[in-house]
Amino acid sequence: MTNATAAATGASATERFQADKTHTSDTPPERVGQLAREVLEAVHDTIRKNQVSYAEYDALKAWLIRVGADGEWPLFLDVFVEHVVEEVANAGRSGSKGTIEGPFYVPGAPLSEVEATLPMRPDEKGTPMTFHGVVRAVDGTTLDGAEVDIWHCDDDGFYARFAPGIPEWNLRGRVTTGDKGQFLIRTIQPAPYQIPTDGATGALIRAANWHAWRPAHLHLKVTAPGHLPITTQLYFPGDPHNNDDIASAVKPELMLDPRSSGDGVDVEYDFVLDPA
Ligand code: DHB
Ligand code: FE
Repeated sequence: MTNATAAATGASATERFQADKTHTSDTPPERVGQLAREVLEAVHDTIRKNQVSYAEYDALKAWLIRVGADGEWPLFLDVFVEHVVEEVANAGRSGSKGTIEGPFYVPGAPLSEVEATLPMRPDEKGTPMTFHGVVRAVDGTTLDGAEVDIWHCDDDGFYARFAPGIPEWNLRGRVTTGDKGQFLIRTIQPAPYQIPTDGATGALIRAANWHAWRPAHLHLKVTAPGHLPITTQLYFPGDPHNNDDIASAVKPELMLDPRSSGDGVDVEYDFVLDPA
């Protein structure tokens, strides 16, 4: 069994972010000033309202330093902040619901046409799952040649590339849709996921007496030419953490309806993409 440390997971997530994201700095100075001022004012108000002591201020400083040292900024921000950025970014859409990307997406997973079996170990644990559906435009037209990019953790809650000892593309893949917009992916059902608890984020969670769980989920990016890409997650009914996800990323529209099928489960979910 793999044993991921927060520092190793955080360092990989930080490296991944720095490799993949373009950090543009075209925000005008007035807007930078306004956002920084309002965040700082919210901090100042919290200190006054709660009569924060020097000891508490120093504990905060030490903790912030540790988040950076553990490389945990991507994990911390995606768990506690990203959901509101996503809410604002996608408020005007009428197609399928999105939710947070999280820190563990890796572009360039193996690509198949119409049907894919995700790369997995010969002895991959977990309930076999077939996930299929159709990608459409908001007017109902099916989208041929759309791309469904999926990634999820294994039956122990670990993601390939961010926990040691897992083959690099394990449980990650892309499939293009067929002439009726259809796709089918064979994989295993992911387990509930506990964010790493031995680093700075875990220390905060323990100090506040919160829990570290995300409900079991599939991550997806669905793209098609001429349409807005969607980044989302899908969830399984009955998971004990569907109602108190640490990352606040569950939406009712993102709940699957698994049917048992042979020795596994069959899930169907269709995506609707807004025009670009
Ligand atoms: C984190 C992990 C996830 O798998 C996810 O979907 C969101 C956030 C995290 O550890 O920060
Ligand atoms: Fe995840």
